[in-house]
Amino acid sequence: MNPENNFRVLVTEPIPGPFREKLQEVADLTVGNRGDFITEDALRDVIADFDAVLSVLTNPLTSQVLHHASRLKIVANMAVGYNNIAIDTAKKLGITVTNTPDVLTEATAELTIGLLFATARKFAETERFLRDGKFDLWDPFGHLGIQLRGRTLGIIGMGKIGFSVAQKATALGMNICYHNRTRVSQEKESAVSARFYNHLEDLLAEADVVSVHCPLTEHTHHLLTAKHFAMMKPHSLLINTARGAVIKERDLAEALHKKIIAGAGLDVFEHEPKIDPLLLTAPNTVLLPHIGSATTEARTEMARLSYEAIIHIAKGNPPEELGNRVC
Ligand code: DGY
Repeated sequence: MNPENNFRVLVTEPIPGPFREKLQEVADLTVGNRGDFITEDALRDVIADFDAVLSVLTNPLTSQVLHHASRLKIVANMAVGYNNIAIDTAKKLGITVTNTPDVLTEATAELTIGLLFATARKFAETERFLRDGKFDLWDPFGHLGIQLRGRTLGIIGMGKIGFSVAQKATALGMNICYHNRTRVSQEKESAVSARFYNHLEDLLAEADVVSVHCPLTEHTHHLLTAKHFAMMKPHSLLINTARGAVIKERDLAEALHKKIIAGAGLDVFEHEPKIDPLLLTAPNTVLLPHIGSATTEARTEMARLSYEAIIHIAKGNPPEELGNRVC
């Protein structure tokens, strides 16, 4: 704490990078312990004391919490996604919200490609097989997956991460189709020879691998349910490195068990960190603990962007100048 500064900042938990000192020069800083502010109650109890919050995606800055935030000027969310924040309320109350775009694009796209290989070639299932001592003789029929070259990747959400995944998959010899709220530029489409599908159903019927890259909003909540898995090819795979609740998790687990689709690579879950037990026992399923942005490079830059946004406001600069402003 620095009592000389009366701009009070809550950093909800320790985060990477050497930027804290810079903020301390202009603000009075409180840093929580990991997990201190993962409930609405915990945030609501303290939020009235702060001018700024540097949050992570597990902090629920709901409408109810923000209504208690009588002096709050900015929430800098250390994530590209901001579904943990009631944006409409923040707008109404004049609270600036920033996120961390661009700096985690490559980390997340690389992880997506990792999951593509891991599910196409059954990494998790076959590694368990080996560790269980079952690898007794090479099997000409065993563990057959699919080759990616020549297959079609269907991208749901052609933002920066979706596009980077498309570029990488193009280099692997995959064909690209995509579904997005709006069609992307001709230039972007031709860079990855992507076909646009206005209807999600057409993409699902066409793709051998479907990869989710859209934000979680009221429109994309449960975008993929049992009826959608039934439209996919039986050998197809589903990858999700965006947000868990875009997929109805129980329906996906059932579709995997019934072999309606052939596998899933998931970095995010509907009720994170809880995982549907049926998913844990599903065949050819690679499950990761939300590590899309978990590279030193990405996390350091995410922290830098978040600290810088708060310093900008603490110094009395206009929010409109912030390039990563959501509202
Ligand atoms: C994000 O930034 O939204 C990722 O899910 C976590 O880094």
